[in-house]
Amino acid sequence: MSGRFYITTPIYYVNARPHLGHAYTTILADVVSRFHRMTGDATYFLTGTDEHGDKIVQAAQKEGMSPRAYVDEISGLFRNLWPELHIRYDQFIRTTDPSHKAVVKDILQRIYDEGDIYFSEYEGLYCFGCERFYTERELVDGKCPDHEVAPEAIKESNYFFKMSRYQQWLIDHIEAHPDFIRPERYKNEVLAFLREPLEDLCISRPKSRLQWGITLPFDENYVTYVWFDALLNYVSALGYPTGDLFHQFWPAAQHIMAKDILKPHGIYWPIMLKAAGIPLYHHLNVHGYWNIAESKMSKSLGNVVEPLELKNKYGLDAFRFFLMRDMVFGLDSSFSEDALVGRINADLANDLGNLFSRVIAMARKYFDGVVPTPTAHTGPESGLNLMQEAADCLEQYRKAMDNFQFHKAMMAVWAFIGQMNKYVDVTAPWELAKQSGARNELETVIYNLLEGLRIVSGLIHPVMPDTGAKMQRHLGQDPDAPFYRMDTLSKWGTLPSGNRLPKAIALFPRIEQTPDPAPAVDTAGAAELREPKPEIDMETLQRMDLRVATIIRAEPIQRAKKLLKLEVDVGERRTIVAGISGSYRPEDLEGKQVVVVANLKPAKLMGTVSNGMVLAAVGDTGLSLVTVDHVIDPGTPVQ
Ligand code: MSP
Repeated sequence: MSGRFYITTPIYYVNARPHLGHAYTTILADVVSRFHRMTGDATYFLTGTDEHGDKIVQAAQKEGMSPRAYVDEISGLFRNLWPELHIRYDQFIRTTDPSHKAVVKDILQRIYDEGDIYFSEYEGLYCFGCERFYTERELVDGKCPDHEVAPEAIKESNYFFKMSRYQQWLIDHIEAHPDFIRPERYKNEVLAFLREPLEDLCISRPKSRLQWGITLPFDENYVTYVWFDALLNYVSALGYPTGDLFHQFWPAAQHIMAKDILKPHGIYWPIMLKAAGIPLYHHLNVHGYWNIAESKMSKSLGNVVEPLELKNKYGLDAFRFFLMRDMVFGLDSSFSEDALVGRINADLANDLGNLFSRVIAMARKYFDGVVPTPTAHTGPESGLNLMQEAADCLEQYRKAMDNFQFHKAMMAVWAFIGQMNKYVDVTAPWELAKQSGARNELETVIYNLLEGLRIVSGLIHPVMPDTGAKMQRHLGQDPDAPFYRMDTLSKWGTLPSGNRLPKAIALFPRIEQTPDPAPAVDTAGAAELREPKPEIDMETLQRMDLRVATIIRAEPIQRAKKLLKLEVDVGERRTIVAGISGSYRPEDLEGKQVVVVANLKPAKLMGTVSNGMVLAAVGDTGLSLVTVDHVIDPGTPVQ
């Protein structure tokens, strides 16, 4: 249904504190709902906590608390964390809410009245960790695959839900709606499961064993099985059956969860909906797991990642961006701080941050801080049409976001940023500024770049809302206005000429730490360097950002005989590590002007992060630094 969008996260168990995995799913739901708001859809975003069942009672007992006091406390941790991560949900549901309990009872009664719930004695293998019976076939070496303990044989009378009746109907539905469960691998997993006969689901627990739950409406002596209770949150939150929200948003429902709870969401839930006479959700969007160095995140391994720690250390937007950019939706991903730092330095500080501060600085320098009026949108002959690049980017972005391919959406934006960086290099505004007849061209180039940045600020808004707003402010726009609406982003030329531009800022400071070491210049390889190298084209050459740098200070690095740590000015202060101490003494270097590769990926050498590389001629007997032949401003590009 177009024009409306309803998105849910799983409701999280309150037996553990929120961690990276919970944060990922909830940030993802936030990104998706912000994206739908951008497109103009009326959007409703639900999250919450799952508070009944054995697990919770056990966790409360361990803390010496009553279940009620315990669930209030942990549920509060989740509820309070989300605003800290700039997650804007519309409702936070708890399964202990009286309105939720009433809906669970109502639906149980309906299904019971339809004859889909029956009472029977059952003897089976029960895993207390999972709170469910297992069939022999599901066990691995006789043990529950999740808890790795042998289930206990128990015999009790219980209520059962006739899921088997709906097995063929569900197979048909999934086959007729190929993206009902996506990505496809999870659809296939559910279909594979449905190839075996489906067992009826035990949906009650005798009160003699568990009281912390919702009493069955048709038998006082039982409480509802926690999954039958929990899944119904998705409709109870909307005021099923008569609520306005239910009428408006249920027809546009999509769920997000990870692969761990595929079976309840892909099998029990559609069958429950069908049995209760409620239309099915549209899509089940299933993501993979964040692992820590290839292993599962778990308290016992002591590798649980705390979202707030990452926010405080690296900044919220950088953290959110990393999660969306690094995980391919549907596949597992490995989390590491090194990977996070790599992304911050390369994508955020370098590609986006440098472009932004460079463009604003040029606009301030050449146009007194006022957005110029372009004479033509296409600009000078640069081989690049930013207006067209923006249109392509918007199209790819939209398609990727609609299909839950967030990393692809971000890649589309970064490809556009790359084109803008190239546009700066090719049009060389600093050259146009020197030519008296090129004023019109300069106006157009700077306008196009500022306009491109306006579009980028809107496209990154769902993932990095603060950065989007910050960019807007620095483009002289109102950061509180809905600058991210897709319709205004699609209209090239919307940034008003005449806007005043405040001083440029660094959107993302570089972080001094990085995983992959790069080689230092070394004479040992001189002979090898002499070998001719394969041809490169102009484009490859132009990707190198060569600049003049003034060496401010040079000092040896302990335990690294060949290396010197250089403090340089390349228009900004940087540290560069150079393997030149065999040929130069530190005191001979200070004040010298050299040529550096300014856009080389940062690398850590003997504990010092090097941000660039100094160029030198490498001879058999020593090095000779590449210098300039008269003093020139540090930061001047070398072509
Ligand atoms: N209470 C049930 C869900 C009921 S929904 C009607 C539950 N809760 S949970 O607290 O265990 O949350 C599981 C969900 O948390 C996963 O499906 C996923 O969304 C998120 N994640 C927990 N750990 C995760 C990772 N390591 N990686 C990615 N997401 C993970 O199951």
